[in-house]
This record gives sequence, structure tokens and C-alpha cells, in this order.
Amino acid sequence: MGLVEWAKSPWGQDVPIHIAWFLLWVSAIGGLVFLVVHAIYVRYWATPEHAGAVPPDLARKLPERIQRHSLAARLFHWIMALAMFVLLFTAFLPKVGVQFAWVTWHWIAGVVLTASIIFHIIHASFFMDFWSIWPDKADIEDASRRLRRALGQSAPEPRKFAKYPLENKLYHGVIVLAGLAATLTGVFMMFRVRTPFFTRNPYLFGDMTWGLMYVLHGLAGVGLIALVMVHVYFAVRPEKFDITKSMVFGDISREHYLEHHDPERWVPETTTSK
Ligand code: HEM
Repeated sequence: MGLVEWAKSPWGQDVPIHIAWFLLWVSAIGGLVFLVVHAIYVRYWATPEHAGAVPPDLARKLPERIQRHSLAARLFHWIMALAMFVLLFTAFLPKVGVQFAWVTWHWIAGVVLTASIIFHIIHASFFMDFWSIWPDKADIEDASRRLRRALGQSAPEPRKFAKYPLENKLYHGVIVLAGLAATLTGVFMMFRVRTPFFTRNPYLFGDMTWGLMYVLHGLAGVGLIALVMVHVYFAVRPEKFDITKSMVFGDISREHYLEHHDPERWVPETTTSK
């Protein structure tokens, strides 16, 4: 059972045409196993996070609600989420037997996703704190402290998080890779179908290049099944629900901020902005 399906080109060459579709079940079941194992771990083994002391003068200086996501960032998130769900359902329902004319809906959602990603890159680079989502030295140091403490060795207490915990940063990095792979290949694949943007040109690349492009698109696509499942799971977990609400309303409470974040590592904006 190969991971890729092959065909013979008109010149007799073996070329890949796309991934083997059982991989979508591997991803979906892998995602499900992760959720179940994580839920059991949290229920029976995880120790509650410590809440370090907060200087009272700092607590007094902070507003009751702390701005976490600007309106532009929230709109981007929900437009991207909608496009992502349309892409996943249009791509994979036909592969599990639900037949419909999916390609047009698929590329339209693809264009929306691509446009929203371009917007996000510009927004994050020039109007947001670009580095807040990438792991820094303190994250690595704290991860190693946590690991040593979990193994029963002595290590200084890890700090509270900056705006984003290391896990969120790593998740973001992986979804950037999968998202860029799906969108970059998807834009080229639009030359294979009829769209109003450019003349269809299936001869833009040779059979081998097209085949590899479909394989990469498919791999990124199935990877996104598990990634989206994990994301939605964390969004609905009770202890993360305040964060999910902040993606709707934009802010978190002062108590939540002080419990989970280090004010020296994440200085919240005092105005609603950008
Ligand atoms: C969540 C992201 C995405 C997923 C899960 C996904 C999944 C898929 C899958 C599984 C296929 C079938 C490929 C094959 O037959 O080998 C496909 C085809 C296609 N996708 Fe996507 N895709 C995504 C994003 C995009 C984006 C962003 C675009 C456009 C910008 C796009 C445009 C296309 C096009 C044009 C096809 C080819 C249809 C054809 O040749 O019949 N996709 N996609």
C-alpha cells in the first residue's frame, strides 16, 4: 500500500498523480488519538499551573480588561477559519463518497484563504509585534526547566508566558508550513482548472512536476485535518475557553492575564487598536 498513487504519462514514464487517500484517515484518526490521550492526561495526571505572586501595585495599574486581539486580527482569524473548513470539506467529502461539484467551491475558498494569509503577513509584519509568535530564548530555557522538574531533577521555576505559550508558537509554526505548502501549490493548480483569473494551462509544468505538486498539496491538506482538529479541541477545552472568547470579543480579564502571563514579557497595549 503506497503513500502515493502513480500513473503512466503519455511517454510511458511513471509519474505521481496524488497521495493515496487512505492518508486522510491516518490524519483524522491520529488527530482523534491525540485528543483522547491529551484529555485523559489532563484529567488524571497534569498538575495545575502555579500562580506566582503578583506585585499589588502592578495589578492596580492594569485595566480590568486586557486587549488581546485587535479587530483586524479577529476578522482575519474567522475569515481564514471559514475558508479552511470549506477547503477541508470540499476536498475530502468527495474522497469519502459524497460526490458533488467541489472544485469551484474549493478554489474560491482557496483564493479567500490565500488573500487572508497575504493580509495576515502584512498585518503581522508591520502592525503587530511580529516576534511575539516565534519561540525565543526564554521559551527554550523554560521548556528545559519544565522538563527537568517533570523528571524530578532540580531546576529553577519556569517563568509565566509572554503573549503566547511555547506550544502555541510551535503549533503556529507547523500550520504556517502546512498552510503555505497548500496555498502555494493551490495557486499553481488553479492553472489546471477553469477560473476567471487566467487562461487554463495544464502544460505550464511537465507531468512529473504537476504530480509532485499534487502530492505536496495533498500531504499539506491531510496534515491540516489533524491540525484543525487539535486546534478546535483546544479552543473548546474549559481552561482555554477564555482565550477562545478573546478571539470573538478581543480581550481577556486582568485576572486571567496575571495568572498566565509575565507582565515583563508581554506588555499589553493600553488602547484598542489596529
Ligand atoms: C486547507 C487547505 C487545503 C486543502 C485541505 C486542500 C485539499 C485539496 C485536495 C485533497 C485536492 C485534490 C488533489 C488531488 O486530486 O490530488 C485539492 C485540489 C485542488 N486545490 Fe486544494 N486544498 C487546500 C487549499 C487550496 C488552496 C489555498 C487553493 C488555491 C489557492 C487550492 C486549489 C486547489 C485546486 C485548483 C485543486 C485542483 C483541482 C483539480 O485539479 O481538479 N487548494 N485540494
